[in-house]
Amino acid sequence: MSVQKEIKKVTTHTLQMMKAGGEKISMITAYDFSFAKIFDTAGIDIILVGDSASNVMAGHETTLPITLDQMIYHAQSVVRGINRCLVVVDMPFGSYQSNSEIALASAIKIMKETGGHSVKLEGGEEAVDSVKKIVSAGIPVMGHLGLTPQSIYKFGTYTVRAKEVDEAAKLKKDALLLQEAGAFAIVLEKIPAALAKEVSESLHIPTIGIGAGGACDGQVLVMHDMLGINVEFKPRFLRKYLDLYEQIDGAVKQYISDVKSKDFPNENEQY
Ligand code: KIV
Repeated sequence: MSVQKEIKKVTTHTLQMMKAGGEKISMITAYDFSFAKIFDTAGIDIILVGDSASNVMAGHETTLPITLDQMIYHAQSVVRGINRCLVVVDMPFGSYQSNSEIALASAIKIMKETGGHSVKLEGGEEAVDSVKKIVSAGIPVMGHLGLTPQSIYKFGTYTVRAKEVDEAAKLKKDALLLQEAGAFAIVLEKIPAALAKEVSESLHIPTIGIGAGGACDGQVLVMHDMLGINVEFKPRFLRKYLDLYEQIDGAVKQYISDVKSKDFPNENEQY
């Protein structure tokens, strides 16, 4: 008789326990079935179906153009590839900012159509009503503070946020408000490490940093950046674990050459 090992699924409760126990949380973006399967099997805790799909999958300059239906398509593909990790789906620009009713309707659509486990939205005080409304419908919400790419035209640049006292004070207040509103975790993007440490220590929910230093309760990277597919992107916070662009470039050039020279396919590669 074969005994099937029970898979221990990552839930928002698991993340809470990890923070309490001092275990760091690993999170990575994915946008399709094949990569989600690799990341889940490797043991990642959270997959974020990020609206960075707008940049790395669709080639847009910003995250603003991606639609709710496009995010749903990516999330459906990711969910088919996973067994144990928690899937967080980004709410795209325009799907929640108008009011909390619209935010709830968008979150429900995401949950119903994708099978994802939670949603993420950007913003502090201004997003609190929507966070409360979505959480009250039983949908876990992850917050996102600091550099919030959906507001790029307000900021004007992708540089480090909250270096000044006023903005840092607002971020600290926003983090507490999101926690009170019921968010289960908060992404802190591109803020000073000391501020991220202070925020992480002030909250009982986990913080997930990207360019926010090592004191956050977890870390997130965009898969195309950490795998070295997106070669032009070289911010200081990024660690590249592979040079996939070069490897793919080499493989495709070899394939072209093999086809042209009639080396491929050989006798063993045909019927
Ligand atoms: O969309 C995304 O990939 C993100 C991460 C940068 C946190 O929001």
